[in-house]
Amino acid sequence: MPMDANVAGNVFGGTILRLVDEVASIVAFKHARSNVVTASIDRMDFFSPVYIGDLLRLIASINYVHKTSMEIGVRVEAEDPVTGSVRHTGTCFLTYVALDKKGKPSPVPGMRLETDDEKRRWSEAEIRRKIRLDQIGRRL
Ligand SMILES: CC(C)(COP(=O)(O)OP(=O)(O)OC[C@H]1O[C@@H](n2cnc3c(N)ncnc32)[C@H](O)[C@@H]1OP(=O)(O)O)[C@@H](O)C(=O)NCCC(=O)NCCS
Repeated sequence: MPMDANVAGNVFGGTILRLVDEVASIVAFKHARSNVVTASIDRMDFFSPVYIGDLLRLIASINYVHKTSMEIGVRVEAEDPVTGSVRHTGTCFLTYVALDKKGKPSPVPGMRLETDDEKRRWSEAEIRRKIRLDQIGRRL
């Protein structure tokens, strides 16, 4: 919508990030079935611009769970509603932590990996988790 864009019609990156966080948090909440908070958002590169009037599609999946944290991946696509052409405009990985009623991190259910894609996403997310925690000096 016009309020999401600059005067040249390019949608703000922050508008897209907000949607990414919202969608990913819903996936995390549905897995944990409890309140969740965003612990971290990995870098997000914008491969191509999104314009006013484009239709945005956010496809999110839960990739990995540890004790209380979950990695959610979100792929953002923009569709030109006139031509129907779809562009992959960005991908982002976010970590959410489930909280109990006292606001403390609480265990999340495990995942059953069935498809090759799910197994690939899990192994890639495990590597990202190590890098992420290493960067902030946390023990695994
Ligand atoms: C996320 C938060 C609950 C973690 O609290 P904490 O005291 O570090 O808790 P713990 O040490 O028990 O760690 C809990 C989990 O968070 C993970 N974690 C903590 N900081 C993290 C970070 N920066 N990136 C990724 N994961 C992180 C830990 O690895 C751990 O995962 P695991 O249990 O699956 O192994 C706390 O930092 C917080 O409340 N942050 C603010 C969240 C928020 O308000 N977000 C909205 C935007 S402001």
